[in-house]
Amino acid sequence: MNQSNSSLAAKIRAALASRDERWIRRRLPDPITSSSGSPLIDFNSNDYLSLSTSPVLRNQFLRKLSAAPDVLGSGGSRLLVNGRAHSAFEARLSGFFGSEAALLFNSGFDANVGFFSCIPQSGDAIVYDEYIHASVHDGIRASRARDAQYSFSHNSMASLRQVLAKLLDERRGVRSGEDSVFVAVESLYSMDGTFAPLSEITDMLEKTFPHRNGYLVVDEAHATGIYGPQGRGRVAQLGLESKVLARLHTFGKALAATGAVVLTSTLIRDYLLNYARSLIYTTSLSYSNIVAADCSFDLLTDGTAEELANDLLSLSSHFISYLRPRLTHIPPGLLSLPVHLSNADGVAVPPSPIIPLMTSHPRPLSAYLLALGMNARPITWPTVPKGKDRVRVCLHAGNTIADVEKLAQGAIRWAEETMAAARKREEREVEGRGFEQSKL
Ligand SMILES: Cc1ncc(COP(=O)(O)O)c(C=O)c1O
Repeated sequence: MNQSNSSLAAKIRAALASRDERWIRRRLPDPITSSSGSPLIDFNSNDYLSLSTSPVLRNQFLRKLSAAPDVLGSGGSRLLVNGRAHSAFEARLSGFFGSEAALLFNSGFDANVGFFSCIPQSGDAIVYDEYIHASVHDGIRASRARDAQYSFSHNSMASLRQVLAKLLDERRGVRSGEDSVFVAVESLYSMDGTFAPLSEITDMLEKTFPHRNGYLVVDEAHATGIYGPQGRGRVAQLGLESKVLARLHTFGKALAATGAVVLTSTLIRDYLLNYARSLIYTTSLSYSNIVAADCSFDLLTDGTAEELANDLLSLSSHFISYLRPRLTHIPPGLLSLPVHLSNADGVAVPPSPIIPLMTSHPRPLSAYLLALGMNARPITWPTVPKGKDRVRVCLHAGNTIADVEKLAQGAIRWAEETMAAARKREEREVEGRGFEQSKL
């Protein structure tokens, strides 16, 4: 059917053109090779531990795959077909993470949508950090509590306190303990590399809700494999397992696999199995996916991931301390580290593999780095708030000291060349004005 002249096509074209005009049209990235044809240095992917290129993991995967009773497909929804491999893996995960129950989803996106669309009940409220992932928003939109959703300023305890106080004030059911309040955060935020103050939040929930009807839900997508004992995440690192209603761990980032697990109570697991549409109405993870994720967990349990994570976080500290003193002569609007990383004397933050280079010109900076053989992507509104554009750097255990120093030098050189070009432009304009005046 040819639709090119239809009014549907016209509307779709107009929407894309509008995105073009505002410089926010999304496109698939070009295949990643540098102009010299050699592979680019990866400062982009979420493969934080570089496990996707680990020969150890690859060999382990191929070995386990060839011995597995089932490898192809999974045959259907978890609720319809034999999920022995899935159940065995869930048992492993609940044991490893120390949770009462574990439930696999096909992706972190599906898990967040499934959880938030069905667990909050009518009368409940959902409170989320303003930087929370899109999948939580999509879940809330489909939830019975969608009319009672509130955001708080990123990582601000004062803002969270204010929102919770308002809820207690305005909602009798919340005050009496009959209705619940869910607080959704990410342990490590994907765009900023900031950490949610998890202990402070659990303390606040305990104090604010004496009926224990305030619940914390933590998305550990970017912390999985990197933080906590053997990579169990920030909740485990801080010893908060018993104070969190549900944790989400995804397998697609540091674990170089695909899929996700929700760690929670048996009761909530049962409810999700009955009501989470993103679990019920989809083909479950294929057997080979399960084998792959299982092999990644072998590397967590044998301590390999912890060693890689230590290397990764040392590299992050080195990058910051190498870059920071070299930024002093550059206007912060052109290139700077974010406030939580920019002050050497400030509160010590744990290093993170995610380091945003704040700049009002993210595309030119990214293009400049690309020409030097480095892949670090520009991130602009609507993915981040207006005025908070950046080139997001994701470091990997496989990056070297030389890689990160090259990145810092490239960014500084770009800023200096941009400043020099602006000065030249100004001088030409001044000269031009002088010439115009001399003609008068
Ligand atoms: C914080 C966060 N949660 C959830 C997801 C979704 O996870 P997945 O890629 O497994 O769908 C992502 C990935 O983009 C994420 O960054």
